[in-house]
Amino acid sequence: MAPTSIEIRPAEREDLPRAQEIHRHYVVAGYATLEEEPLPLEAWHALHGRLTGARLPFLVAAADGAVVGFVYATPVHPGPAHRHVVQVSLYLAPDTIRKGVGSLLLCRLLDEVRTVGVREAVGLINDVDSEPTVAFFRSHGFTQVGRLQGVGLKHGRTVDTILMQRSLRTTAPAL
Ligand SMILES: CC(C)(COP(=O)(O)OP(=O)(O)OC[C@H]1O[C@@H](n2cnc3c(N)ncnc32)[C@H](O)[C@@H]1OP(=O)(O)O)[C@@H](O)C(=O)NCCC(=O)NCCS
Repeated sequence: MAPTSIEIRPAEREDLPRAQEIHRHYVVAGYATLEEEPLPLEAWHALHGRLTGARLPFLVAAADGAVVGFVYATPVHPGPAHRHVVQVSLYLAPDTIRKGVGSLLLCRLLDEVRTVGVREAVGLINDVDSEPTVAFFRSHGFTQVGRLQGVGLKHGRTVDTILMQRSLRTTAPAL
């Protein structure tokens, strides 16, 4: 159960150092991200600016004012043919995991992308200790639609990527 004081809101530039700090944990430990070096703050500023310009959400969860997690949606592919498909990226501070905060962030993100015409959401999960993340996406209606074999590399280890997808369409697609 999520703490009642959790607020989900758009990320401000002032939140980005904390997002960078949370992400750095997963750069250093594990395979949730395959980045091998922490992203510089300028990269977070650039991402935030790109998403804001594209009207795609970058949201944070704040507990008593302190950012404990974030989520954002990025285009899966450049160009107009794929403008209705986004990839979801979601990271929580380690002591926030399994308290419902990821669900709050993801539900709000999916609500927001629907309003800008997104019809399909995709999760790309690196397949090392991935069971909790796969279970999380599955609990939100995503299904596994594929596996890219050996496409990732981190610290000399080759990693598969699991593809999960959820349709956000409310009606059947036109034939
Ligand atoms: C994946 C992540 C975002 C999930 O957020 P969370 O707040 O921990 O998940 P929730 O508490 O909202 O869980 C919702 C449901 O997901 C499933 N789930 C979540 N963690 C699980 C686990 N460890 N084992 C099994 N099921 C799990 C359950 O069905 C759960 O519902 P329940 O608690 O009622 O059983 C979070 O664990 C995280 O940040 N992990 C590290 C970073 C990462 O892997 N990010 C994904 C990159 S795209």
